[in-house]
Formats: sequence, C-alpha cells, structure tokens
Amino acid sequence: MTIVTCVAPVNMAVIKYWGKRNEDLILPLNDSISATFNVEYMRAKTTVMASPTFKENKIWLNGKEESFENPRLLHCMKELKQRAQKGNDVINWNIHVCSENNFPTAAGLASSAAGYACFVYAVAQLYAVEGDITGIARKGSGSACRSISGGWVQWHMGHLNDGSDSIATQFASVSHWTEMRILTLVVNDNRKKYSSTVGMRRSTATSSFLKHRADSVVTERVLNIIKAIKEKDFKTFAEITMRDSNQFHAICLDTFPPFMYLNSVSMTIIELIHAYNDFYGTPKVAYTFDAGPNACLFLLEADVPEVVALIQHIFPSDVAPVEYFKGIPVHHQNLSQE
Ligand code: DP6
Repeated sequence: MTIVTCVAPVNMAVIKYWGKRNEDLILPLNDSISATFNVEYMRAKTTVMASPTFKENKIWLNGKEESFENPRLLHCMKELKQRAQKGNDVINWNIHVCSENNFPTAAGLASSAAGYACFVYAVAQLYAVEGDITGIARKGSGSACRSISGGWVQWHMGHLNDGSDSIATQFASVSHWTEMRILTLVVNDNRKKYSSTVGMRRSTATSSFLKHRADSVVTERVLNIIKAIKEKDFKTFAEITMRDSNQFHAICLDTFPPFMYLNSVSMTIIELIHAYNDFYGTPKVAYTFDAGPNACLFLLEADVPEVVALIQHIFPSDVAPVEYFKGIPVHHQNLSQE
C-alpha cells in the first residue's frame, strides 16, 4: 500500500471568478485574483491510499462516504493518470481518499477549492506527476487552481479552446506583504442554497451585467490590483476589492430569477466598514464576500486590535476566540445571525 497525506489552504478571491465560457473544461469568463490563507488555518487535509487489494475507488468527505462517480472527480483522475510517470504500477491500483476541512463546508468559504486542490496535489504526488497541476485542479472546481500556490495568485482565463493556458500562477509570495491580515467573520455556516456552479450558470445565461463585467471591467481591475499588491498600496487594493465583491453580488441580483448570498448581517458589516473607513478618511479595512453571507476582511496588522474590538462591540453575542497566524494570517470569528 502507498499512502500520501497533503494539506491545501483556502483561497479568497479579491477579483472574483463568476461565469464559465466552457462548462466541461471549467474555463472562466475572466481572470481572477486571490490571496491564499495560511495553511495552518482554514485548510483541507486529504489522505490518499492506493493498494492492489482495493476492489474499488472510494472517497470520504468529513467522515461521510460520497460517490466516486462524480464527473469532476473522474475528470481529474483521468488527467492525473495521463500525466503519471510511465511504469508506475500505482496508477493501476484503486484508491481510497479521506478528506476533511477544518472550517464550514459549502458555506461560501471556498471549501471545494481547498478540497480539490488537496485531492489533485495528493494524487499527483502518488503518481509522480511533474509540471503544472493547476490546470488539473481547475477541472475539479475552478477556484481550486488558485489554492495550489501560496501567497497572491492570478488565475489566467486563457484563450486556447483546449484550456491548456487557463492556469494559476503566483505573482507575489506570502512573505511579500507580511503586514496583511485576513479576518473571517462567520455569519452563517449553513450549506448555501445555490452552489457557485448553479449560480454562475444562471448568471452567465441571463445577466447582461456579467457580460459587461467580463468584457469591460475585469481586465483593468486585474492590472490595477496586481500593481497595488506589488506596491503594497492598501488604499487602491481595498477599493478594488470592495468594488469587485459588490459587483459580483450585484450580478447575482441582475440574474433572472435573482438570488442573494448576502443577508442583513452581511449588509451591516458592509455599512460598518464604510463608516469605519470614512471616520479615518481612508480605507483601513476591505471586505469581500464569496457565495455566502460570511465576510472576509483584509486589513493591516496594526489595525487588527481596534477592528476586532469594534466587531466584538457591534456583534457581542457569540464571538469565538481570535486566532493568530503568520503568513497571511487569519483571524476567525463567529457572528450570530440576528
Ligand atoms: C464566488 O470555483 O466554486 O467563490 O468552478 O463551478 O466549482 P466551480 O465554482 P467555484 O466558484 C467560486 C466562486 C466564488 C469566486 C471565486 O472564488 O473567485
């Protein structure tokens, strides 16, 4: 038997991926940019066992057995086998996969991204696959390609029909902006009503605003935010991040029939952050929300104590202990839904 265990962190998009031009190959309508969390926090951990005695492939997610006959999983497996080192017997053996997340699954906290990145990375180790594997992780879940590298990552939409240039690359390492912190505020950890896949399919089919975003907005934003990150220009970074999150959620409303991931607590957080930034006359904190009501705040280390105190004051009911990590560290708090 051969066993590999890997961990892969969650990534949080500051320029969102929303909409595909090819569903099978998972090719996006636009580039996206993300920060990868510290792997000690908010991560998937996956163990892959291969044995000639296993009768079939099996997978357990957070202790519950799931079907291996998932087209995306099978797509990743097919590509991994094609890229495996020749003469490696292991590829003919069945595998058993156990994966667990240490954060709420499918609540808009990028669980599929970390899960698929971890699965693809682990099997790639098992099969001794060489070269880029972000294009394989992408076929599990688009955003997963951004969790293969740490630090600041760009997923290039690519232009080739076969998707071979739709890969993710790191443009700034985790040690580039050491003062940057991320605070996650868990508003609700229920499974989301519309998965990202279903939501973006509907937006692609019905939202003219999404088309405008992909054609005329994102390219410039991507260039500007990369520059801001490289120059550690928090003001520009924060403004683009908040505008991009808001545009994504506006597209959800422009979709028909519409859907909403944000709830009233999310809206209170948005107003609070703008009031806080207005008080200082400059952005001190940037919010972003994925496909769920949970907030992700970007801020600089020096501002963490005051912002944490403010959050605890406004949402006093049940605030979990604040955790502190190096890298792009994450503070994590639970907020009760009013
Ligand atoms: C809102 O990567 O989960 O988090 O490719 O269909 O699996 P699929 O979608 P997924 O979508 C993530 C959407 C997002 C924005 C982002 O992470 O860029």
